[in-house]
Amino acid sequence: MDKIVISGGKRLQGSVPISGFKNAALPILVATVLTGDVCVIENVPSISDVEITLQILRAMGASVRMTGKNTVEINTKNVRQGQTPPELIGKIRGSTYFIGAELGRFGRAHVGWPGGCDIGNRPIDQHVKAFEALGAVVTTDSGFIDAEAANGLRGSSVYFDSTSVGATANLILAAVLADGMTVVDNAAREPHIVDLANFLNTCGANITGAGTDVIKIKGVPALHGCSYSIIPDMIEAGTFMIAAAATGGRVRIDGVIPKHMESLSAKLEEMGARIEEVDESILVSADRRLDKTTVKTLPYPGFPTDLQPQIATLLCLCDGVSHVTETIFENRFKYVDELQKMGASVRVVNGKTAIIEGVPQLSAAALRAMDLRGGAALIIAALAADGVSSITNIGSIERGYDNICGKLAALGADIKKVTEPDEATVAV
Ligand code: EPZ
Repeated sequence: MDKIVISGGKRLQGSVPISGFKNAALPILVATVLTGDVCVIENVPSISDVEITLQILRAMGASVRMTGKNTVEINTKNVRQGQTPPELIGKIRGSTYFIGAELGRFGRAHVGWPGGCDIGNRPIDQHVKAFEALGAVVTTDSGFIDAEAANGLRGSSVYFDSTSVGATANLILAAVLADGMTVVDNAAREPHIVDLANFLNTCGANITGAGTDVIKIKGVPALHGCSYSIIPDMIEAGTFMIAAAATGGRVRIDGVIPKHMESLSAKLEEMGARIEEVDESILVSADRRLDKTTVKTLPYPGFPTDLQPQIATLLCLCDGVSHVTETIFENRFKYVDELQKMGASVRVVNGKTAIIEGVPQLSAAALRAMDLRGGAALIIAALAADGVSSITNIGSIERGYDNICGKLAALGADIKKVTEPDEATVAV
C-alpha cells in the first residue's frame, strides 16, 4: 500500500513550476475525436486521470504516442463509435466528454456511467438537456448513456438550469459539427471552457463568447488537427499558494495566469498574506499567523470549490472564527473528520458551512485521503503540523496532481511516498 509520509513544521521556500490544467486537458484530449486527424497536445499533466483518458482513446482506435514528457500526439482517423471501455469510463468524471465527442462526430454515442470524486450526487441532467436540444434522443436506463440524432444534430438554443462546467463543455463538443448555430445561455465561464473553445477554434471550429455566460457555436462541416498547449492548472497553483501560507513560507509559483488566481489572491491578502504578481508568477509569503475570514464557493470567477478544502485547512491555523460555505457540491467536507484527528476545531452545519475556530497548532496523525482536493488539504495540514503524519489512499491525490511530493520536497518539505506491503501480504 502506498502512502505519503510528512514530517511537518518546515517553512516552504523557493519556486515551483505549475503543470498543465487537469480540467482543461481532459475535455481537450477527448475533443481530438472530433477532428479525425492528428493533434499534438503540449503541457499535458502526468496524472492518472489523463492516463485513463488516453487509454480510452486507444480503446476507441486512436493512435496515441507520447512525443515528450508532457506532449502527446493523437491520431483519431480510425476512431470507432461505441468502443469506450465502461470500466475505464467509470473511473473518472471527465469521461462524460466522450458522450459529447461521439455524438458530435458520429451522431450517436454509447458510453458507460462516469465516475469521479464522491463529493455529491453529480447528475448529468443538464448534459442530457443539451444533447436533446440538439435533436438527440438520450436514454440512461441501461447502465449506459445512449444518445442518437437519427436526423443529424441541429443547432439550437440551450438555457442551463444551473451553471455546469461539464455540461457546457459537452454541449460545445456536440455542437461544433452540428448543422447551424447553437446559443448557450447560463454557460460556465471557467478558464478551461475558454481553453476548450480556443483548442476547437484552432481546429477550425467557430465558437464565440467562451468565458462569458453566453456562448455561440456555429456548426462547421469538419475540423482538422492542430498543435495546442494546455493552460496552467489554477487549482494546483492555488494549492501551492495555500501551502506556502500555511507553513509561513515564501514561495514563487511559476507558469501561472495571475488573473485565474484573483479570487484566491484577494482572499489570502485579506487574511494578511503578501501576494506579488510578476508576469507569469505569483509570490506568496506569510510571516505571521493569518486572520480569519469568510469564504463562499461560487462558479468562476468566484472562489473555486476545488480550493475549498485547502483554504479551510489554512483557516484552522488562523486567529478567530472563520466560515466556509460550499455552494457547488453537497458532500465536500469529508476531509473535516481527518482534520479533527489533528486537533482542528471545525464543525459543519447543515452540510454546507464549516465553522472553523483557529487553533495554535495542528498535531500529526495517521490520515486517509477521501477525495482529490480533500487529500491535497490533508497534505497541507500535515506540512503545517508538528510531528510526522501519514496519508493513505494517495491514488485519489495522484489523479490530479503531477509529482506533488517532488514539487513540495523541492520547496524544503520533508515529504516522501513510501510503499508498505499490504496486511494480507504480510500475513502470508
Ligand atoms: C468539473 O466537474 C470539475 N471536474 C470539478 O473538479 C469541479 O469541481 C467542477 O467542474 C466545478 O468547477 C472536471 O472538470 C473533470 P459541474 P463537473 O457540472 O463538470 C451539478 C476536481 O477536483 N450538476 O460544474 O462534474 C453538480 O452536481 C474536480 O478537479 C447538475 O445538477 O461539475 C454540481 O453540484 C472535482 N446537473 C454542480 O452542478 C448536471 O447535469 C456543478 O457541477 C451537471 C452538474
